[in-house]
This record gives sequence, C-alpha cells and structure tokens, in this order.
Amino acid sequence: MTQTRQNRSDSGREFEFTAGDFERVRNLIYKRAGIALAESKQEMVYSRLARRLRATGITSFVRYLDDLERGANDSEWEAFTNALTTNLTSFFREEHHFPILAEHVAKLKGPVEIWCSASSTGEEPYSIAITLCEAFGTLTPPAHIIATDIDTNVLNTAANGVYPIDRLGKMSAERAKRFFLKGKGEQAGLVRVRPELRKMITFQQLNLLADHWPVSGPFDVIFCRNVMIYFDKPTQGKILSRFAPLMKPDGLLFAGHSENFLYVTDAFKLRGKTVYELDPQGKARALPTRQT
Ligand SMILES: C[S@@+](CC[C@H](N)C(=O)[O-])C[C@H]1O[C@@H](n2cnc3c(N)ncnc32)[C@H](O)[C@@H]1O
Repeated sequence: MTQTRQNRSDSGREFEFTAGDFERVRNLIYKRAGIALAESKQEMVYSRLARRLRATGITSFVRYLDDLERGANDSEWEAFTNALTTNLTSFFREEHHFPILAEHVAKLKGPVEIWCSASSTGEEPYSIAITLCEAFGTLTPPAHIIATDIDTNVLNTAANGVYPIDRLGKMSAERAKRFFLKGKGEQAGLVRVRPELRKMITFQQLNLLADHWPVSGPFDVIFCRNVMIYFDKPTQGKILSRFAPLMKPDGLLFAGHSENFLYVTDAFKLRGKTVYELDPQGKARALPTRQT
C-alpha cells in the first residue's frame, strides 16, 4: 500500500476537502476570474485542485488556500485559475455564425480588426482566420485577430497551433488540406495550422474581469462565446458595457448559444442567431471609426 493510500481520509479522498474549503475556493475564483462555480462542482474542484496540492507538495487544502491568499507564491494564482477554467471548444463551433461573419467582413473597407475574447485552445480564432481567408479569397487577408483568454495553458496550446487530426471533426477535406499541414513520422496523427493563419493572430492573456484590458479597438467584430455563462448578471453587464465603446458603430458581437445579453445591458440589441449589434438608443455609445 502506498503512503498516499494510507493517508486517505474517511471520505476516501487523498486530502481532506470540507464544505468550508470549497466555499473558499468559490469565493477566490469568483473574485479573481468572475467564475461563479455551482454548488454541484465540489467533486470537480476537488479533483482539479488535488493535482495542485500534489504538484506543490502541500498536504492540506487549508494550507494551500492560506498560502494562496497570503500571496506566498504568485505563480500559484495562475495555476489555480488555469485549473478551474473550463476550456471546451472546437473548430467551427456553432457553425451558423461563420457565414454571418464572412458576409459582414466582405462589406468592410480597410483592415478588419477582430477580438476573440475567450479563445481557449485556439480552435475559435483559427476558425475566424479561415473564414476571413475564404471571404477574401487569399491566405493573407487584410485582417488582424487578437485572441485572448485568462488561462495561460490554453493560450500556449493555441499559439502552438498543433492539434490531433480528429479535432478537425467534420471539416471538409478540402478546407483541412488548404489550412492545415499534416504531420509525418513522429508527428503523424497531428495537424499544424498553416503559418499564414498563425500570423494573422496575436495571442495574449486577458482577464475579462481585470480593470485594464490590453486591447484598444475599435473592433469590427468581438467574439465572446461560451464564457459569459460562467459569470453572474452584474459581471456580464459590466463586461458588455466595456465592449460597447471598443466597437466600431456597425460592429458585431457574437455570443454563445445559451447566452442572452438582452436583460443585462441596453448597449446591444439582438440581430439574430445570438449575434448582437450596438443599440444606438443604448447608454453606452461606440467610438467613431478610427481613420486608417
Ligand atoms: C468554454 S470555453 C469557450 C471557448 C470558445 N469561446 C468557444 O466558444 O468555443 C471558455 C473560456 O473562457 C475562459 N475564461 C474564463 N474566465 C475568463 C475570464 N475571466 N477572462 C477571460 N477568459 C476567461 C476560459 O479559460 C475558457 O478558455
């Protein structure tokens, strides 16, 4: 029997994790990232943070959380946050958005500026980049995407741009061939996004809750999909009121399928299919388009 097994508490867990510990975690991640963890997530939180205890060699949640709060180890905050985010994503997720994006950018004059604000492991910003290439008929469209996320692990994966081939899902063979390079030898079973796509995107860490956002806009399009669901309504409202002045007057905001912003802000109105546009009657007004 291993030392770890011998040390298992009555609950069968390797580390004691009380309702009070869980409550502390919920408060900390809410303050740090705006993530409102449901009560039902106690098991998930235990298993994700137990890995942090093992990695740091700390043997109790109380001590781990005390150290975190005292700021004894700044980089642990990053690991703590990374451990608690949910990063589910896929190429061309919520597919109906991409023809709307293509139609929108085709009408624009000048370089297209897009912010993908919860980009996870990169499938979403690369899908945006592919859509732009197809809309402009070139691998080097006049466009730039800033892709941000709070989680530094997923940003590294995104910037690397290498995926198991089955991540391409139902993507057509023609599209896959045009935008991905197939790995050979040791890289067999993997694909790498073409360098031209990678060059269109800047990846950067950004916490949507932070007072300062290192992005300037104005943006033609903001993607903010499947992240607001983790935030409560006041937090959603604050973020949306900060998006509005960063958008060009005719800009589009793409939301996730289960996200409804109508009751949290009057800055945006629904255009359809979870795509929003600025409401000229709303309180938050867009900045005038920057002359380029
Ligand atoms: C479920 S994924 C959605 C990814 C992608 N937008 C999509 O729809 O496929 C949610 C992402 O939001 C990020 N996230 C959570 N809280 C955040 C915050 N406060 N600021 C920025 N990103 C955050 C997570 O790290 C995660 O990668």
